[in-house]
Amino acid sequence: MTTVPTRTPQDDFPDTNNDVSNIIVLDENQLVSNTEPDTLKGRIKKIANDAMANNPYFAAGGGLMLLGSGLAIARSGMIKLSRVIYTQMIVDLEIQSKDKSYAWFLTWMGKYPKRVSKHLSVNTNYIQHDNGAISTKFSLVPGPGNHWIRYKGAFILIKRERSGRMIDIVNSSPYETVTLTTLYRDRHLFDDILNEAKDIALKTNEGKTVIYTSFGPEWRKFGQAKAKRALQSVVLDEGIKEQIVDDVHEFMHNGKWYSDRGIPYRRGYLLYGPPGSGKTSFIQALAGELNYNICILNLSENNLTDDRLNHLMNNIPERSILLLEDIDAAFNKRTQSEENGFQSSVTFSGLLNALDGVTSSEETITFMTTNHPEKLDAAIMRPGRIDFKVYVGNASLFQVKHMFLKFYPGEEDLCQQFLSKFEKLKISVSTAQLQGLFIINKDKPHDAIEMINALSASSTITQPHQHIL
Ligand SMILES: Nc1ncnc2c1ncn2[C@@H]1O[C@H](COP(=O)(O)OP(=O)(O)OP(=O)(O)O)[C@@H](O)[C@H]1O
Ligand SMILES: [Mg+2]
Repeated sequence: MTTVPTRTPQDDFPDTNNDVSNIIVLDENQLVSNTEPDTLKGRIKKIANDAMANNPYFAAGGGLMLLGSGLAIARSGMIKLSRVIYTQMIVDLEIQSKDKSYAWFLTWMGKYPKRVSKHLSVNTNYIQHDNGAISTKFSLVPGPGNHWIRYKGAFILIKRERSGRMIDIVNSSPYETVTLTTLYRDRHLFDDILNEAKDIALKTNEGKTVIYTSFGPEWRKFGQAKAKRALQSVVLDEGIKEQIVDDVHEFMHNGKWYSDRGIPYRRGYLLYGPPGSGKTSFIQALAGELNYNICILNLSENNLTDDRLNHLMNNIPERSILLLEDIDAAFNKRTQSEENGFQSSVTFSGLLNALDGVTSSEETITFMTTNHPEKLDAAIMRPGRIDFKVYVGNASLFQVKHMFLKFYPGEEDLCQQFLSKFEKLKISVSTAQLQGLFIINKDKPHDAIEMINALSASSTITQPHQHIL
């Protein structure tokens, strides 16, 4: 090793403490003797060597270059190292807005007391009750941005991000993610948080029935979960409720029987009869009894196509009963299209295909209702599509009696009076009409007996569809 035998930067800057001479060293081999043969290569080397040897700025630049690249290497090394440390010591959990736990998590976070967040969003629950009253509930949830929380002694960074470009086409809201970051050793806390969030969400639905309706291609919760309706509150003709409930229980306990025989694990029920006889109410009460939710699809709904029907029926939320209302709408096409141009978008074959195609790892319980059983095609009655059919008609004497006692408990004598008057009228009314009379005369059974004639006005004399199937 030889120092360059010419001026070094120290000569120019003698006061400097930096010993740059240590850096500006060149290998012996790099020094080209003047005796190098006069070849082209030799000449280039010589020119380069002269430039290095005789030009102090060039020499100093080389040193700085080395220093610079050394620092750059060190810097990238540091970045890599910190990345390794980050990946080893820090864990992230990403929850996407399309995931079910997303809403659960935001609610949990909104309720979590130990948080530092300045950005909040508001979630408004607007409920219109059956009686027209409206109640509104605001809940504050963390808005987009960073939030810190301290959970079970650990710090967790929560980042809610909204994608500017991606829009969730189903509900046309911006696509969002929430990312939780914490130390690797605290990663088990993610599980704890998600479980707490789930428990809070389920607790709000405890003892309630969630009703789903279709929204585009997906099922959406329809309002808030409703308090379960007691089965006793629905008065069907003698023995009908028990028959259906027993059949459903029997079906639900026989999953193995179905799988052993390779039969799709599904069962279809048809409730048919005049309006206001309690079909929908009974199915909702049954869902409550079984601890199931309910997915309601009205086949007479406009813009329900075969594809949508098929997709919806194959993507039912877990533990839900599927309720297809007004299935006769699928059979309108042939008759009504000629009459008034009306066409339901669901076709007869679309309905049959959807019923046949339902594949689910869980049991599938489908209830169907219609006021027009005469419109149904025999093909839908095939086992596997409809396995159990029940006529739910206008109020029988048995039902009149039990409806009366439901509204006026213990009034056995008055009930007898009401019944004998009712019999004399020889009318056929729906249970909904009876309910109407009893609601008008709330707590006044005598007045209800007086007013019984009012029922005649709205009665239907015959029950045209009785047991036609
Ligand atoms: N059998 C019944 N027992 C108790 N309540 C009933 C009964 N039938 C009807 N009601 C009451 O009448 C109203 C309408 O009943 P529901 O909607 O269940 O009738 P539906 O048979 O589904 O009628 P539609 O065929 O028009 O759909 C509800 O408020 C319900 O509580
Ligand atoms: Mg109904």
